[in-house]
Amino acid sequence: MNKNRLLQLLMAHRDRPVSGQEISDELQVSRTAVWKQIEELRKNGYEIEAASRRGYRLVRFPDRVGTEEIMLHLTTERLGCSIIYNDTVTSTQEIVREQAEKGGVEGLIAVANEQVEGRGRLGRSWQSSPEQGIWMSLLLRPQVPPRYAPQLTLLSAVALAEALDGYLPEPTAIKWPNDIRIHKRKLAGILTEMQADMDEVQTVIVGMGINVNQADGDFTGELAEKAASIRQYAGVRQSRPQIIASILKSYESWYNEYLTNGFGAVKAAWSNKTDTLGSFIQVETSRQTVEGTALCITDEGALQVQKTDGSIQTVHSGEILD
Ligand code: BTN
Repeated sequence: MNKNRLLQLLMAHRDRPVSGQEISDELQVSRTAVWKQIEELRKNGYEIEAASRRGYRLVRFPDRVGTEEIMLHLTTERLGCSIIYNDTVTSTQEIVREQAEKGGVEGLIAVANEQVEGRGRLGRSWQSSPEQGIWMSLLLRPQVPPRYAPQLTLLSAVALAEALDGYLPEPTAIKWPNDIRIHKRKLAGILTEMQADMDEVQTVIVGMGINVNQADGDFTGELAEKAASIRQYAGVRQSRPQIIASILKSYESWYNEYLTNGFGAVKAAWSNKTDTLGSFIQVETSRQTVEGTALCITDEGALQVQKTDGSIQTVHSGEILD
C-alpha cells in the first residue's frame, strides 16, 4: 500500500476519525495492511489516535522536512516534482548543482535538516542548525539572457516574502535585493547561483534559508540583534514541511507569471514590498561604496541610486549597510 495515500486520506479527515473499513475500501487494501501502515507511520513520528470502533485520526506530524512530509502538503505542478532530502549536507546548493550537471529536471529541490557548510551571499557563511529552519535549494532552467538574472533574484524575494506572510501576524519587507525582514530583522535570505553561456542562462540554483523555529536565545553573537524566526513573531512552533509547500506554491505562481508575461508584475510587487526604495542607503559593491537615495528598480532588475551630487548610479549587485 502507498503510505502517502494513507497519509493523504488521514490529512483530509483531520476533523474526525476514519474507520479502518473506510480506509481499506478507499485504498483497496486489507484492514491488516491498513493497521501495519498505521504502525509504520507511528514509528516515523506521526501521532495517530485510534478510537475504538471509530477509527484513526491524525493528530500531529513529525517535525521532519523529509520527502513524504513535504509531498503531503504539496499543491504545485512543477516545483518540488523531485525532492532530495538529506539529514545533513555541506550545502543544499551543492546537492542541486550535482543534479543539474546530471541533467536534473527543472523544479527539483534539495532540502536538508542541517547544513554544515551553509553559504550566504557575498562569500559569507549561513548558520543552518538542525531542526530549526528550512534549508532548501531549487533548480530552475529559465530560457532568458544572462543579463536578466537579477530579475530572478527579485522574483525569489517576492515569492518567498508572500509565502512567509501567511505565517506571520505582520507583513515582511524586502531589503534589496532579497533579504526578507520583519522589524528590520532578517527572517530569510536567498542565494541565487547561475550558470550561463553568452546568450542564455543554463541553470539557476535558488537557495533559500528561512529561520523558522528558533527561540529567543538561539541566535547568538551578531545574529542576536539581526536575525529573527517566524516562531518568535507567530508565537508558536511552525510546521516546516507546510511552509516549504507554501513557498513552492507561491514561487510557482510568480515563476509562471514571469515566464508568460515578463518582469512587469514581479517588478511592481517587489517595489511594493520593499522598504529600500525611497530610503537613504549605502551600498557596498565589489568595487566601491555607493551612497544616496534608492530610487527604483530597472527593467533588468538592478537598483538605481541617486547620489548627493544628483547623478544616478545603477547597482547590479551588493549589500546595503544597515
Ligand atoms: C544570504 O546571505 O542572505 C543568503 C542565504 C542563503 C542560505 C541558503 S540555505 C539553503 C541554501 N544552501 C546554502 O548553502 N545556502 C542557501
